[in-house]
Amino acid sequence: MKAVILYDSKTSGGSTEAIIDTIGLKLAESGAYVEKVKCKALADYSFIKEFDLIILGAPVYYFLVASQLLGALNYGNLKINLKRKKIAMFLTCGSSEAMAAVLYLPQLKIHLITNKILVEKIFPSNVLHENSIIDEFVIDVLQAYNNTSSQKALSAKWTDESREWLQTIPSFLQSKFKIMAEEYAENMGYKEITLEMLQLARDEMGGT
Ligand SMILES: Cc1cc2nc3c(=O)[nH]c(=O)nc-3n(C[C@H](O)[C@H](O)[C@H](O)COP(=O)(O)O)c2cc1C
Repeated sequence: MKAVILYDSKTSGGSTEAIIDTIGLKLAESGAYVEKVKCKALADYSFIKEFDLIILGAPVYYFLVASQLLGALNYGNLKINLKRKKIAMFLTCGSSEAMAAVLYLPQLKIHLITNKILVEKIFPSNVLHENSIIDEFVIDVLQAYNNTSSQKALSAKWTDESREWLQTIPSFLQSKFKIMAEEYAENMGYKEITLEMLQLARDEMGGT
């Protein structure tokens, strides 16, 4: 599994970077290939297509998630490149978890409503040095990642009939429709892609 930690922080070697290094080490110990990349709002994020898991991490300054990460989501091409990606996210902040869940996490999540967010975590200042809490986060992320991967394998079973039907639509649309149908099956918990399920998916997506 290839993971990238996309982050922002104004503090070089600060608490966010310290957490990222611990997360990276733990992921690498589990066999993952890990990179960390500091966000610039207008950078080109097309490289993240090569990664299976994206971890977004940033501190909060003056009630806002650090600006380069927010900027990349708001103005850059990060959001479009995160489409269909498995994402985990964390924030570091001085506020309590409850407050941060209401005020700060939505600043990221509003951009990611169509994504599968595996785990979201707030690290308030008083737990920043507790490695066990960071370890738990990584374990949760790996577990959620593995669960969704195995579910996807199950949901990807097409019946013969539905496979035949797929062949009847224009070839340039087939791979796009196949991905959409498999995502629908995964999200809705279908183990098999049947003609009935395809009809439901088309109805719900406003298809013809
Ligand atoms: C200038 C400044 C502003 C901050 N504003 C907030 C804030 O509005 N809400 C909050 O919960 N924490 C706030 N914090 C706390 C930081 O989010 C927290 O210390 C974080 O771990 C800093 O990460 P860093 O070491 O990577 O910079 C602020 C910290 C600084 C230095």
